[in-house]
Amino acid sequence: MIRLRRLRTTTGLRALVRETSLEASHLVAPLFVTAGARREVASMPGVEQLPVADAAREAEALHALGVGAVLLFGIPAAKDARGSGAWAADGIVQQAVRAIRAAVPDLTVITDVCLCEYTNHGHCGLVNGRDGISVPELPDGYVLNDQTLELLARIAVTHAQAGAHVVAPSAMIDGQVGAIRTALDAAGFAHVSIFSYSAKYASAFYGPFRDAAEGAPLFGDRASHQMDVGNAREAMREHAVDLAEGADALMVKPGLAYLDVVRETRQRFPDAVIAVYNVSGEYAMVKAAVRAGWLDERRSTLEILTAMRRAGADIIITYHAKDAARWLRG
Ligand code: PBG
Repeated sequence: MIRLRRLRTTTGLRALVRETSLEASHLVAPLFVTAGARREVASMPGVEQLPVADAAREAEALHALGVGAVLLFGIPAAKDARGSGAWAADGIVQQAVRAIRAAVPDLTVITDVCLCEYTNHGHCGLVNGRDGISVPELPDGYVLNDQTLELLARIAVTHAQAGAHVVAPSAMIDGQVGAIRTALDAAGFAHVSIFSYSAKYASAFYGPFRDAAEGAPLFGDRASHQMDVGNAREAMREHAVDLAEGADALMVKPGLAYLDVVRETRQRFPDAVIAVYNVSGEYAMVKAAVRAGWLDERRSTLEILTAMRRAGADIIITYHAKDAARWLRG
């Protein structure tokens, strides 16, 4: 007779037949590097904005725990309409990449490529009607596409010059992967990889991140470039375009509410490297419930991360990376 409980009888049997693995090497830890002072992020307990030297120390600790990579975001000293701090040779992320590469040469360094933390309006690109740019056919405040591409490419090249192994464009500007690939190759960085935030949704779950990175839009929202929550087929088109433009990995973001999209991505692109971003709001929800005494942090977090792997993700970007790496050690 069929009794599916038989294989669940002992811990050993359960481990033997577990279908999904979760290891520290699959995890990427985001770090917020600031030009200012060290500061806790209120809506993300356990996450801090770190000055460069502290970020390098944190990267060392993450590497020692076996975490696969860090993903760097910058909080610059000053912002302007063009986000010029994003591509400054001595910008905050460029400094952090150099410091981390020097401190922990074997750790993989990924950089987020976007403008929203560097523009004084908080948008991910150049905005119509600002900084002397005006395209009368498009609405005032619209995030301009092709005018932004050149800046994104410039940011990626400065990150590569600082020593980034991987750049991760997150602006959802059409053509960003191709523009970055062309610019990297022309600058002698054909070996630098691109992890594309290919299917990034216009999500409410980025709220706490915008506190952490100080990149909330001053007016409007990101609906003109980030994907609509109701669409999954469109995500497959986004992935296909980015692969054709030279993306080395695809991404689905956020994670928890989008595991159907992760699964579909795995089925449609069986050979692709797929990352999922367990975003700030997902982290904040767990932390809040843990603080209230309603959830066990270790069990619920490892369950969420395992579910992301089970859905088909190779790589998980998560604010729980350090804790999870510790827990996975035993
Ligand atoms: C944009 C960017 C965002 C996140 C990662 N890169 C915010 C946004 O698009 O508004 C969100 C990550 C998170 O919520 O954890 N540079």
